[in-house]
Amino acid sequence: MSNPQRRPFIAGNWKMNKTVGEALSLARELRGLVSMVRDRVEMAVAPPFTALHSVARALEGSNIALAAQSCHWEAFGAFTGEVSAPMLKEVGCSYVIIGHSERRQYFGETDETVNRRCQAVLKAGLVPIVCVGETLAEREAGRTLEVVSRQLKGGLAGFSPAELARFVVAYEPVWAIGTGRNATADQAQEVHAHIREQLVAAFGREAAEQVRIQYGGSVKPDNAGSLLSKPDVDGALVGGASLKASDFAAIVKAAG
Ligand code: PGA
Repeated sequence: MSNPQRRPFIAGNWKMNKTVGEALSLARELRGLVSMVRDRVEMAVAPPFTALHSVARALEGSNIALAAQSCHWEAFGAFTGEVSAPMLKEVGCSYVIIGHSERRQYFGETDETVNRRCQAVLKAGLVPIVCVGETLAEREAGRTLEVVSRQLKGGLAGFSPAELARFVVAYEPVWAIGTGRNATADQAQEVHAHIREQLVAAFGREAAEQVRIQYGGSVKPDNAGSLLSKPDVDGALVGGASLKASDFAAIVKAAG
């Protein structure tokens, strides 16, 4: 079982899917399906920027929080195409996913830009969900723990223990994302425990024990229960399965 000090947190990353109309239908359907879960599990959905405002209204008064998929490190200015953390706060977000592997792979995200974005997220009063994870080649070369340590060290540099305690970390092995090939519960636990140890070493046990560490990568209703049964797996960051309300709701129920 996961540590009772940490409430399970299931977040849905909708990626570049759903028009405003489609996003509203999904949010409304989901709201109905998970209303009975109440406080046992924390939930969030991350629609594309264009749907944030409408989905925020559709989820008002519900137990589902709103997340964004990225943000810029400055609050405003000449950064064409970017969206800032204060803007996301205003529209109703509570969380921002930072450093997703697709941003690292396709949009030049580095540990340094992850760090800067996290600073902006905290400054705006939002909570970062920081993604780390190794590629298949790195895993096969036996470098998983080293890669994850480097990403954590760079991404979390300079934060105080009190700041760190607010973070959510998502371990997402790149080879498991969108492939249908999830890490086994034991593989996930090994890396999650390593992440926790790194956080203890850098920030102290008290702060590190408060950080929720989500697993992400082909989480589905049929594998969620076994992944979430591990002591350091405190939730899930769900991509594909979060686009189907009944699947996402089933994963939430597996966490409760
Ligand atoms: P997936 O994506 O569940 O479709 O594998 C997870 C993620 O990228 O967050």
